[in-house]
Amino acid sequence: MQLRKLLKLLIAGVSISSLAIAGCTTQRQFDTQSPATTSSTSVQSPQRQPDVPYVPTPQTVVDRMLTIAKVNKNDVLYDLGSGDGRIVITAAQKYGTRGVGIDINPERIKDANNNARQARATDLVEFRQQDLFQTDFSEATVVTLYLLPEVNLKLRPKLLKELKPGTRIVSHAFDMGDWQPERVEKVDGSTIYYWVVPDKAQ
Ligand SMILES: C[S@@+](CC[C@H](N)C(=O)[O-])C[C@H]1O[C@@H](n2cnc3c(N)ncnc32)[C@H](O)[C@@H]1O
Repeated sequence: MQLRKLLKLLIAGVSISSLAIAGCTTQRQFDTQSPATTSSTSVQSPQRQPDVPYVPTPQTVVDRMLTIAKVNKNDVLYDLGSGDGRIVITAAQKYGTRGVGIDINPERIKDANNNARQARATDLVEFRQQDLFQTDFSEATVVTLYLLPEVNLKLRPKLLKELKPGTRIVSHAFDMGDWQPERVEKVDGSTIYYWVVPDKAQ
């Protein structure tokens, strides 16, 4: 029993450090003018502990993820665990895409809203403080992820059940187990995975 507990803790520790390494090896400055940083005033706590720590995707990787998914102005993009909002805001700025960012941490939502205001993208983007496992993201035509391997795996059935066939999913750094991606690409030391939701009959 003790040994199993110890093993679980060890696995969680390794996953979190791999996320930090994936994020830090290629860290770049966020592109929008003067990005907002976390404010020290009126800090709220998340409704529960986040499943994943906050590590931003480098801007070069964000740009490539959007290119790989062929994001355009007719899409509705959901970033599940949206951090400072950079993926959703970049899609709005570059392609005129409507986007929704979901984050469980109110500080991240505050930062993302500030960044959206500074980027003058508030007419296209929206940030919701929600648990991504409780979120209805069925309207999405593109979903972006930068989570953890076990969180991707836990999310996979919900993605396959709720998303329309043809919806594109792009993940920074982590795959989805035995669901083979259609494309895998390396950018500045980061790996990007790309899937398309299959027809329900498959
Ligand atoms: C690694 S960061 C990625 C941020 C952003 N998507 C990016 O690529 O720059 C993961 C984010 O997921 C959020 N998060 C963790 N667990 C969550 C949950 N259950 N529901 C919603 N957001 C969550 C964290 O607060 C954090 O901001």
